[in-house]
Amino acid sequence: MRVRVGINGFGTIGKRVADAVAKQPDMELVGVTKTHPSYEAQRAVTNGYPLFIAGDGARAEFERAGLPVAGMLSDLLGHVDVVVDAAPEKIGRQNASLYRDAKVRAIFQGGEKADVAEVSFSALANFEAARGKRTVRVVSCNTTGLARAAAVLEPRYGVEDWQATLVRRAADPPESGRGPINGILPNFHLPSHHGPDVRTIFPNLPIATTAVIVPTTLMHVHVNRVRLRRPPADAAELVEAFRRTPRFLVFREWERIDGTPQVMEFGRDRGLGHNDVMENVLWENGIAVNGPTVEFFQAIHQESIVVPESIDAIRAMFDLARDGPTSIAITDRALGLPVP
Ligand SMILES: NC(=O)c1ccc[n+]([C@@H]2O[C@H](COP(=O)([O-])OP(=O)(O)OC[C@H]3O[C@@H](n4cnc5c(N)ncnc54)[C@H](OP(=O)(O)O)[C@@H]3O)[C@@H](O)[C@H]2O)c1
Repeated sequence: MRVRVGINGFGTIGKRVADAVAKQPDMELVGVTKTHPSYEAQRAVTNGYPLFIAGDGARAEFERAGLPVAGMLSDLLGHVDVVVDAAPEKIGRQNASLYRDAKVRAIFQGGEKADVAEVSFSALANFEAARGKRTVRVVSCNTTGLARAAAVLEPRYGVEDWQATLVRRAADPPESGRGPINGILPNFHLPSHHGPDVRTIFPNLPIATTAVIVPTTLMHVHVNRVRLRRPPADAAELVEAFRRTPRFLVFREWERIDGTPQVMEFGRDRGLGHNDVMENVLWENGIAVNGPTVEFFQAIHQESIVVPESIDAIRAMFDLARDGPTSIAITDRALGLPVP
């Protein structure tokens, strides 16, 4: 069975999920939407993705731009089994009734509140929870990064207390109107909303988060301090636990990845779609074990980390894989990610 997938919202996340769907052996990309003509709409056409009109868009605008359209969003919804909503924050919730009325299953992104869907999702943590569901929310980039790390730490070592500071990128690379360009902005919601968001996946995880925004577009960096019930013998054991888990990349000191600029250069050299780095990025020399307390940094490429998760969410909803690890391996092979 090939699940027919539509993408509503062809921006940062939507275009990446569309490319990822097109690479999967058990999925068919039926089409993507744009509200207005743009270089991204042109890219969809160049890629051979049928282009549909969403929001307040009008056919005449696309015709004037010379961009062929296959129909309106309602037409797309008539031909898909599931829609991945990747419209801007809060628009997904408005779109939910369109999907319900069209009797189409839907995946929402982390910009929407948890109650937009039956379940919040992160593949390593709770694949089974999305099995057979009609609506799923893939959690945000920061929450995905934390949930993946929790999926390594919690079952093996038992988390007693987790304090994380999130150093967040100010904007995505194309967002020329956002800042700050010179300043560090504390998030005065103490603790930040990210901890409760992780608990939509791990309900009892004792995690508290704070956040600051810094002038970069490249990645987020999480500074983690975790007290464990059954701590690992040493840092080497923990490094191996991360390394043996899919979607973790642990750089060695000799690789001279000093920070996010080199991580993104690594991504450009590796050359996966959009030069993305979809893994949680850790550093061997950025992981320490002191008695029951573990400290580690991780970097999160905000534009791409949720892409493989969206693919696994589809597979869980349509019962296409025996279990989470099987789905993750299929997704990651198709995307060119390493399969440990
Ligand atoms: N970027 C990140 O770092 C990141 C990471 C994880 C999760 N998310 C979440 O993913 C979702 C999408 O974010 P994004 O960063 O991809 O946003 P984005 O880059 O702004 O892309 C959203 C796209 O949706 C289109 N759009 C606008 N109104 C629409 C409507 N009514 N119906 C359908 N499409 C519409 C816009 O393009 P046109 O108007 O040109 O059609 C826009 O390009 C949000 O929930 C966000 O919180 C974002």
